[in-house]
Amino acid sequence: MSFRIVVTGKIPNAGLDLLRNAGFSPIAWNNDQPMTRSELLNAVVSADALITLITEKVDEELLVAAGSQLRAVCNVAVGFNNIDISACTARGVRVTNTPGVLTDATADIAMALILMVTRRLGEGERVIRSEDAWQWGMHYMLGAGIQKRQLGIIGMGAIGAATARRAKAFGMSVAYSSRRDVTGEIDRGLDAKHLSLDDLLLTSDIVSIHCPSNESTHHLIGAEQLRKMKKSAFLINTARGPIVDEQALVEALEAGEIAGAGLDVFEFEPKVNFGLLNRQNVVLIPHLGSATAETRAAMATLAASNAIAIANNQHPITPVN
Ligand code: GLV
Repeated sequence: MSFRIVVTGKIPNAGLDLLRNAGFSPIAWNNDQPMTRSELLNAVVSADALITLITEKVDEELLVAAGSQLRAVCNVAVGFNNIDISACTARGVRVTNTPGVLTDATADIAMALILMVTRRLGEGERVIRSEDAWQWGMHYMLGAGIQKRQLGIIGMGAIGAATARRAKAFGMSVAYSSRRDVTGEIDRGLDAKHLSLDDLLLTSDIVSIHCPSNESTHHLIGAEQLRKMKKSAFLINTARGPIVDEQALVEALEAGEIAGAGLDVFEFEPKVNFGLLNRQNVVLIPHLGSATAETRAAMATLAASNAIAIANNQHPITPVN
């Protein structure tokens, strides 16, 4: 088929097989290391559709390099802060993402971070691995229980709600702040209160971020917001790094303004602020939210299905623009 699909990062075979079975001959990068920028700008030339990963920045320069025949950018991620949506829209390029298929995997990681940071699991594991002497003790390495504590969700979309359901099962109460009140749309059993961001920060024991990363959420959590949190509260981020001012977070942790943080994402990923590295009350994991084999296969399949739909002049399944 003459519709040229360029897959700019290594994706699971399930996605490539789907494209091939539909009669396409995808040109796919087959290396776990992302392409360099110049490799990427070369690879996209004359593409009709791109299947991209979050490591690829899709901006005006890349759209120009691809050429005016480009019709689709299908991101293999629910977040699309790597893509300049208005530049794509202005050129008539459809953008798609992969919502739904990674909801549970990401909520699992948010819940894991909540448990890890409140119960000091990273710290405990480091003690064992260090082979330093340790002894069970009544007062040894006490953490913070989460039962009857309030989880404050910032951004009550699918992943926020799935995290809330998990937290509820662990005995937490749920509050959320969102651009709009979605109380009528989420499970009634969650009994979630809609609060302003300030009230959520003031009253929550754990604050977990689940909103998209864009200009309006850049540094949504900075020095002022961290100061509003309880000294005993923890911050969890499985969304995107730039939503948190990472330097302000380091300073808040140093000043004891919050009790700890669990982070799957970083402001300048893959770089991690040096001030986080030596803190015991911080759990740091390398952007693993959707990292299960099944989830990644489902993401690749959904992105491929979107590209096929656009190639066939049908509506994409999960459009962004
Ligand atoms: C991963 O970070 C995603 O947005 O899907």
